[in-house]
Amino acid sequence: MNASTPSSRIGGFHKLGVAQRIQAVAQFAGLKESDQALLADTGNLPADMADHLIENFVGTMNIPVGVATNMKIDGCDRLIPMATEESSVVAAVCNAARQSYEAGGFVTSMSGTLMIAQIQLTEVRDPQHARLCILERKADVQAICDACDPVLLKLGGGFRELEVRVLDTRGGPMVITHIVVDTRDAMGANAVNTMAEKLAPQIAAWTGGRTNLRILSNLADRRLARARCTWPLAAIGGEAVRDGMVSAYHFADADPYRAATHNKGIMNGVSAVVLATGNDTRAVEAGAHAYAARNGRYASLTTWEVMASGDLAGSIELPMAVGLVGGATKLHPMAKVALKVLGVASAEELARIIAAVGLAQNFSAMKALATTGIQKGHMALHAQNVALMAGALGDEVDRVAQALVASGTVRIDVAEAELARLRAG
Ligand code: MEV
Repeated sequence: MNASTPSSRIGGFHKLGVAQRIQAVAQFAGLKESDQALLADTGNLPADMADHLIENFVGTMNIPVGVATNMKIDGCDRLIPMATEESSVVAAVCNAARQSYEAGGFVTSMSGTLMIAQIQLTEVRDPQHARLCILERKADVQAICDACDPVLLKLGGGFRELEVRVLDTRGGPMVITHIVVDTRDAMGANAVNTMAEKLAPQIAAWTGGRTNLRILSNLADRRLARARCTWPLAAIGGEAVRDGMVSAYHFADADPYRAATHNKGIMNGVSAVVLATGNDTRAVEAGAHAYAARNGRYASLTTWEVMASGDLAGSIELPMAVGLVGGATKLHPMAKVALKVLGVASAEELARIIAAVGLAQNFSAMKALATTGIQKGHMALHAQNVALMAGALGDEVDRVAQALVASGTVRIDVAEAELARLRAG
């Protein structure tokens, strides 16, 4: 390490005010005044709120929020706020929704709002015996869990099920207790983690083992959001397009290399709504990918079939642990606005809408890939980014972008030359 490199050991950094923290970072990294001003500009998230959301807060990262139009879900028209930095993602949902609108749009459902927390028990000589000891205490487990959250209980939620599995692991047998809890309109991490921590000493006492981890599972497979939709053959553009799309699905379902990209496209839509509503993108992503591998091989989160009518039927099913209460959802001003735009009354309604968005996203990605390829649509928006990077302002952005697309070369040097030409008159 260079002797002049400043030290990252900044004692009490977390105790500094936001302005002082920015100053300390500026000093460390040699930031200009304008960089510091950018950090201090927290946009639509008040600095004092952000300072309470995370540790060592120094700034915010603005992500564009777009609104997807044309969505009809369970007979109800919706505008969908989506937070994403990626071009084509919002347009993909609009297009898929437009092509299904007249046929009725999306139909959704949900398996429930149940979250799972796990308690790991080790050092048990008699794991099968221990398993039954725990299962016999279901009434006690329920009482301990429900006592943790009287508000949840009042809202109709609370403990629902007790499951105990014996796992064979590299470290010997483990007894894994699952508590299954209805967390209603909360994502539920805090509720179930509290219950698991409260329950763990009892489990150790009942079995003589040692409890280790006590934490929710993001494989929220008792909280599956489902959506299905029919795209009329005529709206898609005929049999060749439809069959290309179905073949794309068959490819994804047979090959993890393709499934990863196929599902990434789905998550483009899913995560954008999860983020716009202040929910935990990583929790939903972890759940989705684990669910995609539930049969022992990573596969597609969607299914696509040709109906007797010849129309295309798509469906999706994935864990969707999102909430309307708690965390950034209830605090972030933009998340609150996004929820108002969506007009949802429950976490379940939100989860179902998100599933529909994931399906719509997948439809458009497969259609583009099976026909023109994604670069054509992508490049039009990408060209605008490149025009901005070249320094285009106002209506110059569209003019430079159009010139780039027309030239078939979306590159920064070409954009700079085009901008110079425009400005020269
Ligand atoms: C790009 O972000 C997403 C796609 O790659 C998805 C897919 O391949 O299905 C277009």
